[in-house]
Amino acid sequence: MRLHINHFCLTLASIVPSTLAVYSDEAYSVDYHHELLGLPLPHTTFFHRPRKEEKASLLYTLSDLGVLGAVNPGLGKIVWRQFLAGYEGASESGFLRPIEGENILVSAIGSRVDAWDALNGRTAWGTAFKGTVRDLEVMENAAGSTDATDVLALFQEDGKADLRRLKGTNGDVVWEFKDGSSDIPLQVSTNVQSVFVVSLHGTVGSYNLKVTTLDPVTGKRTNEYTLNTKADVHAPEDVLLVGANSAASIIAWTDKTLKTLKVNVLGKSGDIQSLALKEADGAITNVSLHAPHLVQSQPHFLVHSHSAVANRADVFHIDLTSGSIKKAYDLPKLPGQGSISVSSVDANVYFTRLTQDEAIVVSSASHGILGRWPLKLKEYRGSFVHGATEVVQRTADTYAIRSAVVTTDQDWVLVRNGVEAWVRTEGLSGAVAAAWAELPESESLIQNLEVEAESNPVSSYIHRVNRHVNDLQSLPDYLQRLPQRFLSSILPPAIIGPKAGVLVRDSFGFNKLVIVATQRGRIYGLDAGNDGTVVWSTRAFSQPAGKLWDVTGMWVENLKGTTTIRGGEGEYIIVNTTSGEKIETVPPGSWPVVTGTALVDSPSGKWLLPIGANGDPGEIPQEWAPKDTIVVQCDDGEVRGLKFEVTGAKSAPIVTWRFNPPEGQKIVDVISRPTNYDPVASIGRVLGDRTVLYKYLNTNIALVTATSAHDSTATFYLIDTISGGVLHSATHAGVDTTQPIASVITENWFIYSLWADISSDTNNSGDSKGYQLVISEMYESNIPNDRGPQGAEANSSSLEPSDIPNADPALPHVISESFLIPEAISHMSVTQTRQGISIRQVLCTLASSGAIVGIPKSILDPRRPVGRDPTTAEMEEGLFRYTPVIDFDPKIILTHKREVIGIKDVIAAPAVLESTSLVFAYGVDIFGTRVAPSAAFDILGKGFNKLSLVATVLALWVGVVVLAPMVRRKQINGRWMSA
Ligand SMILES: *[C@@H]1O[C@H](CO)[C@@H](O)[C@H](O)[C@H]1NC(C)=O
Ligand SMILES: *[C@@H]1O[C@H](CO)[C@@H](O)[C@H](O)[C@H]1NC(C)=O
Ligand SMILES: *[C@@H]1O[C@H](CO)[C@@H](O)[C@H](O)[C@H]1NC(C)=O
Repeated sequence: MRLHINHFCLTLASIVPSTLAVYSDEAYSVDYHHELLGLPLPHTTFFHRPRKEEKASLLYTLSDLGVLGAVNPGLGKIVWRQFLAGYEGASESGFLRPIEGENILVSAIGSRVDAWDALNGRTAWGTAFKGTVRDLEVMENAAGSTDATDVLALFQEDGKADLRRLKGTNGDVVWEFKDGSSDIPLQVSTNVQSVFVVSLHGTVGSYNLKVTTLDPVTGKRTNEYTLNTKADVHAPEDVLLVGANSAASIIAWTDKTLKTLKVNVLGKSGDIQSLALKEADGAITNVSLHAPHLVQSQPHFLVHSHSAVANRADVFHIDLTSGSIKKAYDLPKLPGQGSISVSSVDANVYFTRLTQDEAIVVSSASHGILGRWPLKLKEYRGSFVHGATEVVQRTADTYAIRSAVVTTDQDWVLVRNGVEAWVRTEGLSGAVAAAWAELPESESLIQNLEVEAESNPVSSYIHRVNRHVNDLQSLPDYLQRLPQRFLSSILPPAIIGPKAGVLVRDSFGFNKLVIVATQRGRIYGLDAGNDGTVVWSTRAFSQPAGKLWDVTGMWVENLKGTTTIRGGEGEYIIVNTTSGEKIETVPPGSWPVVTGTALVDSPSGKWLLPIGANGDPGEIPQEWAPKDTIVVQCDDGEVRGLKFEVTGAKSAPIVTWRFNPPEGQKIVDVISRPTNYDPVASIGRVLGDRTVLYKYLNTNIALVTATSAHDSTATFYLIDTISGGVLHSATHAGVDTTQPIASVITENWFIYSLWADISSDTNNSGDSKGYQLVISEMYESNIPNDRGPQGAEANSSSLEPSDIPNADPALPHVISESFLIPEAISHMSVTQTRQGISIRQVLCTLASSGAIVGIPKSILDPRRPVGRDPTTAEMEEGLFRYTPVIDFDPKIILTHKREVIGIKDVIAAPAVLESTSLVFAYGVDIFGTRVAPSAAFDILGKGFNKLSLVATVLALWVGVVVLAPMVRRKQINGRWMSA
């Protein structure tokens, strides 16, 4: 049979190469990225032609998360993005204006004003000022002028108004106007003759409007007047509109009861015109104004009024010479909420109204409907909140419209002539918490197994037999699917097609759900096995505008199939993990404030314990009392260990220890080993000479980071959470405490990164600084084969570590090493695999380059020999020579070329395959991938040609069938010959 074996080896050899090239082809196929912007805001979202000569326009927005982006309106794909939220003071929403006829967009947010190339998003110029920006407008050029258009940026600095005219070409300040009074700067407006600064004058809660007129050339004050609005204007939001330019040179507000609209034409002091607001089905609840932005537009504006059940609109014309305002026509009342948007084409102004049933477009000049389209959305996405529209006149009397509308479900939908063109799930942006969830398919099996484990042998046997009999029922179905299964495992998946929309577990454990909660109060269920598509979404609690949902904890209970999310105001919600259906909701305010949560184990099972103000969980029923000590942080920074003591039916927390860092240090972070899943494959580390270093595997440890801005130090304390004793500490000097300090602890090691002096053991020069990553590994003893003071005892106590009373706890032997890294790490976590056998990867988020890197733990090994080559024994242990610098080279960048912005956290989950860990990152964007830190040793790559393997086996089989009789005959003949 030697012949066949050789043949087989040859064939195998021809198969092997294709399997070695596995995984480079998996970039962009195992990972997914939701490139998000955030929710578009009404005043910073518009269509604009980046090139005057070309018809094509892009859709621009500066979102509530401070992401500036251009979207292709045809496909809904992002053309470019800039993440501006990192700017100083950028927590408030910003401003965005196009400069007509120039390929420039100007943004202002926080302390900065920037100009961008509208086509590709490159910076044209940018300047930072003191204070916070309050408004931004583009100036009007006198007719015929060919100069670049300048911009006006209104800042509030130390409570005072500061207006600057910036040069359109480079952002240089042309002039600056400082209002010495402490009136609150509100907005700026301009026309060819004047610049107007509108501010709130008076005491908090009751303001008059002050209008300061400036000379546009010199920036000198030419006039100033005050409008008596004390009874109506209580907050900046009460001023409905300050028009941008001569197309809408007005200030508008309403009286308190929303019965009349009051308007002042800018520059006309003492002239307040009152326009009656007509009610549509009950009292008006909300009024908004829509006016054109384009300078050459006709001065027409629209007032949109909502009641609880309907909405209507009135169109007004401004007579610029006399300053009088006349109503032109109205748009009739329609039920429900609707969105109205304004578009300008040359001097024409169009209003587009979208309701649940139809889209109509009218000209501002007369009430005739220019176009009407029935609305066709693929599914209901809530009512329309606001939109931006582009109107194109096709022929003399046909029009086409494209509206990008934001819905109450926080989707951004493009409606082209009434038909849905695309949807961007922008509500998914701004995620603040996420957790992995198992798909439910075999949950019944898990439950059955649990029942069997808990009952007595006989009944468990009967239960099991019953279960198998029940399983037989699905046998015909299984047999029917067999050919399909066989084909799908041989043919590439593209031919069979993925089973879209079906949530089933797969045998590799790649199909999982991720539950995401956003700062705007929505919850999403994403299918990680299917490119992170949204399976369901629901609104947990409606958040008032500008208020962010403070999620303090999320816990997925896989056995029950539910997810619990707790918020900071005592609210919580329990949803069905697979369907998103709400099972229980307790609104904010019903329970005391929650500052954090802890996943605890109690006699009634695991649950999410809410921790109240000042780190106090309060009394809880005895059956829910946590079994272990929990670690909390108080308002003054003190870290405490709490143990629950049962008295009758109640149990109350008792402080068992307190930890305070030395005077001057402030605790900035407390982390512990992952509570949910942290398997450790081996309790020791085998050295080259077959001796073992035993790992210090205490699960009750916490790593406390304390900084001192005054001394520029950062100290890391390793604390025993049972006794509160400090097991180890390390201090770094020359730390920039304003830079991110990230840390992670797992197994027997912890890692942190910071900007600090480069310690002398890596570089003797001493005075150089850099970003560094420090790893520390903990062992029971520094001597191999020695378990230290704990010895081989099965149980040990942190409180009574030895028979000698008041002895110190056994301290771990810690070895540390630091590495230089090229940039700051804003967040760190580690991969998780099923058994913990695969090498870990440290997942580091690099905020400045928008990437996530996975550094293999084998590189971050403190036992790597420094300044010499490893000995044979060390090489056998897998150690290689220490190099002080770790480069983030493309091979370890998990996000490849993708720019993943605003990442807050990265979570990992094990797959069924030991080799693979699932990774999910969230924040502004969503990114997910699979990593195989020790290479994928238990799965075939996509490049593996199963078809050729099957063909080879078949060929071999044919070969055997054909050749076997021949060989046998030959052997028999041979025997006859020799005999
Ligand atoms: C009125 O509508 C505007 C814009 O849609 C919104 O920002 C505001 O919060 C609403 N006001 C009220 C009282 O509902
Ligand atoms: C969750 O929803 C699914 C599908 O609607 C249902 O089969 C399951 O029973 C629900 N689970 C719970 C705990 O309500
Ligand atoms: C120490 O720093 C100096 C100057 O910054 C540099 O030239 C040298 O290569 C460094 N040495 C090591 C071992 O990193």
